[in-house]
Amino acid sequence: MQLRINGTLHEVDVEEDMPLLWVLRDELGLTGTKFGCGIAQCGACTVHLDGVAVRSCQTWASDAEGAEIITIEGLGTPDLLHAVQEAWLTEQVAQCGFCQSGQMMQAAALLSENPQPTDQDIDDAMSGNLCRCGTYPRIRAAVKRAAAAMQEG
Ligand code: FES
Ligand code: FES
Repeated sequence: MQLRINGTLHEVDVEEDMPLLWVLRDELGLTGTKFGCGIAQCGACTVHLDGVAVRSCQTWASDAEGAEIITIEGLGTPDLLHAVQEAWLTEQVAQCGFCQSGQMMQAAALLSENPQPTDQDIDDAMSGNLCRCGTYPRIRAAVKRAAAAMQEG
């Protein structure tokens, strides 16, 4: 099957019901997307399908066919980071870092849908993304910083 990932069409020879997370990590070496729980409970594997945040551990490869798939590797570039990535660096959000690509993908999807989220909006949108290091206050600050930066353009 063919999957469009970060703007590039990839031909992959996988079973239709292989989780997208496996395709990304094991078939294509895109290891920025993390495996946490495997049962859509932690958010570590979050990617975008047509701009919507989804859990790639519970998204079958065949469900992603025809969609624009964006992973953390395609959210920005080293020369032109996404506002969320800039904000994450400025706020020094990451501790161990394991959950953070999923956090950023979730935050980017939130901001594209709701450019000026309230604290409650942020908490609601991010509540399914767990962080064992407890970086939640910095995540919230970084989402607000990114929102402000995106408003300024
Ligand atoms: S690994 Fe997919 S939600 Fe935890
Ligand atoms: S930074 Fe360690 S799990 Fe979130």
